Amino acid sequence: MTTTLAFDVYGTLIDTHGVVTALQRLIGDRAQAFSQNWRDKQLEYSFRRGLMQNYQTFAVCTSQALDFTCAYYKTPITDDQKSELLGLYRTLPAFDDVNEALPILQSAGHRLFAFSNGSAEAVEMLLRTAGIRDFFSGVVSCDELKSFKPNPGVYSHFLRAANATGETAWLISGNPFDVIGAISAGMRGAWVQRSKESIFDPWGIEPTLTVNRLTELPNKLEK
Ligand code: 2OP
Repeated sequence: MTTTLAFDVYGTLIDTHGVVTALQRLIGDRAQAFSQNWRDKQLEYSFRRGLMQNYQTFAVCTSQALDFTCAYYKTPITDDQKSELLGLYRTLPAFDDVNEALPILQSAGHRLFAFSNGSAEAVEMLLRTAGIRDFFSGVVSCDELKSFKPNPGVYSHFLRAANATGETAWLISGNPFDVIGAISAGMRGAWVQRSKESIFDPWGIEPTLTVNRLTELPNKLEK
């Protein structure tokens, strides 16, 4: 069956921890923890801005989350260091299973979209840098609605933009909150559990399917 696949971007196609090497120059062996705190704060800011209906772009959430995390770690950052880190964030690498999985899914006849909190311009840049833009029929951004995941409206916006219905459209995401948001809005949801340590939120809403790597998706979608 031909399906529409909405790939989450940050944390699913693109590795947000691709900044760790650069962070090591700033903060040494606390770089991994810093990166995780930065990411958690970025998402928290998007949730709060969504709830408060006080929209700023995801790039602003990322920048302000970096400022917060530097303050938390008592690590001053120069304007040049900040520009460098935010520049790297615009060209983060893809996970290593992405380049193998996307052509198989495309050849199987699925329609692939990137669907993100990030602006269309930022997502286009990431996909082009990673050399994977051509696998996608389009990019759909929550910025078009001036809101963020998991507002149910952004999943409806995706379905309208992709001319798809919830019964045949899947959200593919490494972020459990995103999978729960999509399923609650009537889509199918595949959770990419790349690490055994990742925990799915115990809300009583289970992923439609779970994979450990994107390369497992083609077979599982056939079943
Ligand atoms: C994205 O929308 C949730 O960060 C994630 O790309």
